[in-house]
Amino acid sequence: MANKDDKFKKVIAHAKEYGYVFQSSEIYDGLSAVYDYAQNGVELKKNIRDYWWKAMVQMNENIVGIDAAIFMHPTTWKASGHVDAFNDPLIDNKDSKKRYRADVLIEDYCAKIEGKIEKEVKKAAKRFGDAFNKEEFLSTNSRVLGYQENIHRILSRMAKSLEQEDLADVKALIEELGIADPMTGSKNWTDVKQFNLMFGTKLGASADNAMDLYLRPETAQGIFVNFANVQKTGRLKIPFGIAQTGKAFRNEIVARQFIFRMREFEQMEMQFFIKPGTQQKWYEHWKETRMKWHLSLGMGEDNYRFHDHEKLAHYADAAADIEFKFPFGFKELEGIHSRTDFDLKAHQEHSGKKLQFFDPEENKSYVPYVLETSIGLDRMFLAVFSNALIDETLEDGSIRTVLRLPAVLAPVKAAIFPLVKKDGLPDMAREIVEELKWDFNVIYDEKDAVGKRYRRQDAAGTPFCITVDHDTLEDHSVTIRYRDTMAQKRVKINALRDIIKQEVDVKFWLMKM
Ligand code: GAP
Repeated sequence: MANKDDKFKKVIAHAKEYGYVFQSSEIYDGLSAVYDYAQNGVELKKNIRDYWWKAMVQMNENIVGIDAAIFMHPTTWKASGHVDAFNDPLIDNKDSKKRYRADVLIEDYCAKIEGKIEKEVKKAAKRFGDAFNKEEFLSTNSRVLGYQENIHRILSRMAKSLEQEDLADVKALIEELGIADPMTGSKNWTDVKQFNLMFGTKLGASADNAMDLYLRPETAQGIFVNFANVQKTGRLKIPFGIAQTGKAFRNEIVARQFIFRMREFEQMEMQFFIKPGTQQKWYEHWKETRMKWHLSLGMGEDNYRFHDHEKLAHYADAAADIEFKFPFGFKELEGIHSRTDFDLKAHQEHSGKKLQFFDPEENKSYVPYVLETSIGLDRMFLAVFSNALIDETLEDGSIRTVLRLPAVLAPVKAAIFPLVKKDGLPDMAREIVEELKWDFNVIYDEKDAVGKRYRRQDAAGTPFCITVDHDTLEDHSVTIRYRDTMAQKRVKINALRDIIKQEVDVKFWLMKM
């Protein structure tokens, strides 16, 4: 556990030191669970968003994008169910006065049992060596089966109680499991209460006629209310999708995991409109397609897993998360939800406007069903960043801190150095910067010895360093150094563009999907 905490602390410190993420309003001691993206962070975030947009919108003829406003008519949130049902079950500890999400306390308890399963797997893998079959072990070992059964029993009971609004049973479960306040160990709990997560605000100048609004808690509803406009103006035929990226706001109670759980965050969502009855097929399709997108970034198959929901949201008939192994364990990164016709039907009823599709093949109109993919951009940022940060022991025993970001996502693609600050080398290096900056985000750096500059760029995640030396003036060649292998090659200046492009090109990466 200490190790996991250390790794996470290192990630947070590194994100600050290298200009990725800052605490919001830090000079005023910060604002809890709100963060700002700094000069490198904003580029990484943009590159992740672009990578998603390319794969989801531009590579699919039948998916289009929109950018809806954050403010929406307040009836939207009545129709969507958020006013009545977008709640977290909260519990307070009477001794420590700390507030927790009851479901998170129970899930964390189950995560500890998961940890025991992982330990059993590691032990067995050591014992059996090459002959070890993880799948078989997980499905036959009696101790593991016991743990799994226990997790299933706890989570299904919690799901049932929450669904039936039986909050007394949620408290009873916490007490039966002997769950204590993680900060103090106290088991002196209050009753569980529901708490709505939406932020309210007002539209209008005078108090008398101001209208109560909410900051949107998800981008999805901006898509649903635009369904008919987009379908008609785009002459789109089912199946088709509408995607958008943008800010969402939730008054999160448990907000202590850096950019994993924020009060203001960004989502990348796509609603895929389908014929009723085909939802199972499309659910499987999008689960598979989204997993392939993640795997295309080469961050390791073992870092991902699916988690099928036991407790379904008020709108869904099936749902799964893609979980990622963050420094604090496997947690939700993306959700794939079969939302049925819940949203369009609800908006149809509340607005009185028809939200249907005339299917020429069936010769009838119907309210389409919806398959949603929803990923948090900040969570994806954290996944990419934390997975990339490595302390590597070199042959001479020294430690190199390197941020092995997938080159396609790296904020700066190449840093260009003059070996020394004289003899015309800076001018030559600047000429290279001027040429390459048309195609890539590149920087010029002349401070410190070259070795130190390499290390600085390694830690900042820059995949290439290019050094101009005295020979460059004669033979128009430079040294290109690769971040991950530290290999160095002598290449012609006019070959640089193609060498870099090959490794940072979106096509090269997305083709792996
Ligand atoms: N439209 C469906 C929806 O909003 P969700 O599971 O509540 O579903 C989708 O959220 C994704 O948004 C999550 O998988 C997560 O990546 C991200 N997300 C949700 N709450 C977040 C928060 N407080 N901070 C950062 N990301 C969050």
